[in-house]
Amino acid sequence: MRREVILITGANGEIGHGLITKLSTENHARIVAIDVKPLDECLMQHCEKFIQGDILDNMLLGRLIAEYDICSIFHLASILSTKAEYQPETAHKINVEGTINLLRLGVEISQLQGKPVKFIYPSSIAVYGLPDIQTKHKEGKLKEYQWCEPITMYGCNKIYCEHLGRYYARHYRQISKDPIRNTIDFRCLRFPGLISADTVPTGGTSDYGPEMLHYAAQGLAYDCFVREDTRIPFMAMPDAIKALLMLEAAPNANLSQLSYNVGSFSPSAAEIHRCVMEAFPQAQISYAVHPQRQTIVDSWPEDVDDSPAREDWGWQPDYDMDRSFKEYLIPAIRTRYASNPC
Ligand code: SER
Repeated sequence: MRREVILITGANGEIGHGLITKLSTENHARIVAIDVKPLDECLMQHCEKFIQGDILDNMLLGRLIAEYDICSIFHLASILSTKAEYQPETAHKINVEGTINLLRLGVEISQLQGKPVKFIYPSSIAVYGLPDIQTKHKEGKLKEYQWCEPITMYGCNKIYCEHLGRYYARHYRQISKDPIRNTIDFRCLRFPGLISADTVPTGGTSDYGPEMLHYAAQGLAYDCFVREDTRIPFMAMPDAIKALLMLEAAPNANLSQLSYNVGSFSPSAAEIHRCVMEAFPQAQISYAVHPQRQTIVDSWPEDVDDSPAREDWGWQPDYDMDRSFKEYLIPAIRTRYASNPC
């Protein structure tokens, strides 16, 4: 008999690190991981199989169907918002065509198994696009359906892939003679900026939060690329992993929508700066605003309204800002740079 596995794309990324470790150590899940880059050595032991390859390679994805019984897909691979602005068409290819490939794979697996495979998709606050800072302040917490007019390629890709997920889950090939019944069980989270003690993000526009901390912990000077008063929601990585697993575990009947905001705390850059200084009083942090990156962050909301996630599947973050820094980020980051683990 073939063994049930969880498929994770973008396995070597920030979320992949936390998710693989948690799924393997606490849930004893069998994991098949894919990434274009080699997987960090410390994650290898947690995976049944690691495939170094591209999600644009349909042959590679096809082979997975033959070898494994995939029960859930966590499709994490993507090019983040700042990097995507340098090569928008490449970002589109990976973020959108890559996602279509995985959605199609999900449909094929679901048909073979006679039941919808769960497809967990991390989206982002980048799907929002507020026109100016006055509107951002006035609107405060946004609901899922408000101001979805992103100004970045990444944001456009994410909101479109949310729609694709809904299409593949509910309307796939709707006028063909033999409509496909068992398609995917698509579930999407819109994450705020994420801060991990173990990894530094690459190519995002919320990176100033984690970068301030990681630079300070290594004794490096840091120029923050947004103004001190810039405010967007952030979340500590353990809560991001918790949200993914809670959404995956929720009974389908409880889900009133396909895409959910999840919130945690919403600091200004100056407030993050203060927390970092408390832990690392020698840190050298100054501000050198990058106007275009500032414009992107200014188009993202000050905070998100995550009441549907709270009502439908009991979402509640474990870490507010104070606890994130004092009980997770600072102690873990000190250990990280002291012992230099992978
Ligand atoms: N962290 C992402 C980025 O900055 C937004 O979700 O691109």
